[in-house]
Parts: sequence; structure tokens; C-alpha cells
Amino acid sequence: MKKEANITIHINGQKIKATKGELLLDVIRKQGINIPTLCHFEGKHSDYPCRICIVYDENSKSYIPSCNTRITEELNITTHSPELLKKRSMLLELILANHPDDCLYCVKNNACELRLLANELNVDQRRFHTKEIAFNTDKSSPAITREYAKCILCGKCVTICNEVQKCNVLQFNNKGKQSRIEPEFGKLLYQSACVYCGKCLQVCPTASLYERENISAFFSSLGNTAQKTISIFSPILEFDQAITSLNKTARSRENHTVSILRKSGSNHVFSLNPAIDLYLYELLNEFKATLKENKTLISTFCPSAELYIQKSLYNENIKLSALIKPIYFFQKMLEHIYPESKFQLHEFTTCVAQKHIHAIESVKDKNYAYTVRELMKIKQTTSYGNNSSNVKTDEPFHLFSALSYLPFIPGGMSEAIVRMLSLENNAANNNINFDSFRNVENFGIVKITLHQREYSFGIINGMSHIKTALETWENRLPAFIEILACPNGCYYGGGASKENQNTEFKQFSKQWFEIFDQTLIRYPQRNTQLISLYQEIKEKQSSDSSLFYIQKEE
Ligand code: SF4
Ligand code: SF4
Ligand code: SF4
Ligand code: FES
Repeated sequence: MKKEANITIHINGQKIKATKGELLLDVIRKQGINIPTLCHFEGKHSDYPCRICIVYDENSKSYIPSCNTRITEELNITTHSPELLKKRSMLLELILANHPDDCLYCVKNNACELRLLANELNVDQRRFHTKEIAFNTDKSSPAITREYAKCILCGKCVTICNEVQKCNVLQFNNKGKQSRIEPEFGKLLYQSACVYCGKCLQVCPTASLYERENISAFFSSLGNTAQKTISIFSPILEFDQAITSLNKTARSRENHTVSILRKSGSNHVFSLNPAIDLYLYELLNEFKATLKENKTLISTFCPSAELYIQKSLYNENIKLSALIKPIYFFQKMLEHIYPESKFQLHEFTTCVAQKHIHAIESVKDKNYAYTVRELMKIKQTTSYGNNSSNVKTDEPFHLFSALSYLPFIPGGMSEAIVRMLSLENNAANNNINFDSFRNVENFGIVKITLHQREYSFGIINGMSHIKTALETWENRLPAFIEILACPNGCYYGGGASKENQNTEFKQFSKQWFEIFDQTLIRYPQRNTQLISLYQEIKEKQSSDSSLFYIQKEE
């Protein structure tokens, strides 16, 4: 319930009504006044506050950090003055005193908040130099790079990792000039409990945390005429703000991604949807087999959630899905279609953890994953290639079902299973309330009855709820559990545009279900062309079982 304004303060001479306990920064911003911040994030404060957000309070005759001041008494605030500008600039200059100035070659470049702030505060020279400390760069993970020298100790990554994702990977270590934020005992990221969700990359204001870029691998693939460069994109990209903002007048959202990838020179462009059709088709089989064993099947669609479960939880009644990730479906299908050709897969996704997956799983044929930020960089560099006006994905993978959109959103995987089950059982869908799958905020169980049989589905929306959900359900586990590590799903993934975070989930999911409703083929089982191709491969390989199962070493 909205609290009533019960205190009057002055901001730049104007009387403003506020509520006791409100954050001064929020009240100032509500007036449309821009106050710069660096370390402020979700109401948490860094152990090393930057104080860039200071304002002047005439009543106490003091400079106060607006991001750390709750309104409890009357204030008389000045937000901008030559003196304040000087102080903010000075604070920034001190932060920059030991910051590397290789901006020209920095991966963050024009997106660096420090650099933008220097411009805003008119800091155009280095007046202070502190002794350089030889910080290392942690490149142990194939998904994330940690450049310690560029860390300004704002603590945002600690907050998001420990309090939002509840992974507890990062912490403040050491004191004074040697202070750094790193995993416990100074471990490398790869040795830590990190699950590569990438949420910390999105909040880091500098290039201290960023995705391991694979752009040069993409260009060398293009330059290698002995192999085909195959680009596959996640359908979430059709909605990503970096892409949708490119050209509001294009005929459909998909056009942007397809045409960027065509112009890049890729030999083929596919969307991930058809692979998800087959993934769901096999997931249903796996689900039915697990039901017979009286066990709970946990989906491994989300690589971060899978890693989390593998690293921290064990329950003998729970079976992790053995299906390989959808992208490897393409590998198998393409091997069948182009038996004589060499090719390399390049996956464009909002999922940072896919970089880790490719590094550990594609040992033989090295494939790569790219975030939306990398896609935008590729776009800047490439505008060649044929067929850029062809905005359709390539045959024979141009058809896919509506259900292939579902796994990217919390509850979607369960909804897809229920819809496929009811098709198989010739049961009408119209007495199932699918909204109950779509509106799970943290975690919850949805039960449905089909042909007098009850099925229960556990939905976990965000990594921070995995432990509590599994503890809560311990004595009565649902038949199927799906987890998306990023709260509200892949649109908010670590590799998505930062701007996506400002879109309300309701607004995004409305668009998502519109595209779902408009897709003509409703079920993977009815994607007959694809299923026949899959059966053909199975026959050729004399395999009765799924080609999707992870090959376990003998
Ligand atoms: S990638 Fe995720 S788990 Fe790893 S440090 Fe960042 S927020 Fe924590
Ligand atoms: S790594 Fe980035 S987000 Fe984390 S404390 Fe350093 S500058 Fe801030
Ligand atoms: S929720 Fe989606 S983007 Fe986030 S880690 Fe899982 S699969 Fe990747
Ligand atoms: S933004 Fe307020 S102290 Fe850093």
C-alpha cells in the first residue's frame, strides 16, 4: 500500500512532500533531477561508498550522500551548485587515480559508467596518480573475465550475487589499497561456486566483470572457407531492447536478428526454436519414463540452475534430466544434412552460462556462445554478406511450434509438458488454467488432472529460491521441477541488454504470449517435417532412444 506523504522538505528551494523513511535520492529523482551514482544499487551500500551522490543540506550545513540518507526530519537540500560539481568531480578524480586508462582498448568502452560520468562531470585530465598495484586478471572461466585493476569496489556485484541470486560467490577481501572483491580464499572464478548466470556483469559499472568475448572466434570462422559458419539465435533476442530499438519500422522483430546475422556473413541462420521442439518432444518421453520410476525429473534447460544443483544439492529421489542442450540438436541434425561439410556453430543468446557449456561440451567441434552485447559489436563491424534482405531463417529449420517459445519463461517448460500430454491423451485443454503456470513469482507447485491422473509441477523462478523450494517440497516432491536461474527468465539473463531490466515482466510476457498465440503449429508433435527428419536420423543410426541424451562415458 502506498504510504502517505507526511513530511515536507525543500529541494532547490521547492517545497516537496515526502514520506518519512523514504530515500532522499528517490525523492530527488522523482522531481526529475539527475543525481549521479556509482555504487548505489537496490538500496544497498558499498563498504567503500563512492559519495558521488552527495547533496548539500542547508539545515545541518553538511554534505550528505543522498543514496544513504533516509528522510527522518526536515531537510533543505541543494542538489547542484558549482561547489557540489567541484566536489563530485574531485571524488571521481580520486576514484580514477589508480584506474587504468586504456579506454581505447577497453571492452566496455563507450558503455563504461565511469567514463560517461567523467564526461558528465567534466573530468578531462588525470591530476592524481597513486602507486599502481599489480592486479591480475582472472580468465579461468570460459564465461566471465574478472579484471581486478578496473574494480572500483562499488559492491554491486556482491549484492546481486549474494542477495539477489543467493550464490554467495563474491565477497570483500583484504583491507586498504589491497582491497578486492573476489571469491572466498581468493579462489579463481572457475574454482568457486559461480554458476555463470552473468547477473553481476550487468550491474558492474566498469569493465571489471564482463563476458569472455568470442568475437574473434566468429571472425576467424568467417575467414575459414573450409567450414560453414552457422549462426543460431535464441528467440528471446527478438525482444531484446538492443535489437528492437534498432529499427522500429521493420516488419517484424525477428528481422533484426536474422538480418544482422546474414549481413555478418554467416552461411546459415537458424533460430533455436526447432531445436527446442525436439528437446520438448524428448523431454516428454523422459518425463513419462521418470514417472514410472516414481522419481522427480528436474529440467536442465537452464545451465546455471543445472550447475547449482550439481554443485550443491543431492537428493536420491531427484533425477537431473539427461538431455543435452537444444543447441546440440542442431549439431546432430547438421551432421546429418551436411555429412561432408565442416561447420562451426555460433549461438547468440542472453545466457552467459552457455559460454561455459560450449567450452566444456564442445571439445571435438568447438562451438561458441555470444551475448547480445557481442552481437551488437559484430553488427558494428560487419555489413557485408549476401541475402541480407532475406529475413526468414533457413530451411529445413524454418518451421517450429508455439510451445518452443515457452521454456524461456518461468512455468513455460511445465506448461509445454502439460499441453503435449493433453494432446497425446486427446484431452481438451480448455479446463486447464494455464495462468497458474505463468504467474509463479518465487516458487510454487501447480497441479493438474488429466484422465483422472494428477500431475504436479514445481516451478522455481530465480536461483535464490532453489534451496528453499526443495526444502519445502522435500516430503512431497512434485513429478517435474523446472528452474530458471535468472528471476523472470531469460529475457533478464546476464547476456541480455541492460535496458531489458527496466521492462516490467508483465509487459514482456504479454508480448511473449502474443507471439506464442500467433504461431500456427501449436505442438512439437505436429511439426511433422522436423519430426520425420529426426526419425530418419534415428533410423540411420539404428537408435531407438533419444539422440539427445548426454553420452555417458563407459
Ligand atoms: S555469474 Fe552469477 S553466480 Fe557467478 S559471481 Fe556473478 S552473480 Fe555470482
Ligand atoms: S567488479 Fe564491478 S560491480 Fe563489482 S565491485 Fe568491482 S566495479 Fe563494482
Ligand atoms: S534463466 Fe535463461 S539466461 Fe538465465 S542462466 Fe538460465 S537459461 Fe541462462
Ligand atoms: S552512489 Fe551514493 S555513495 Fe555511491
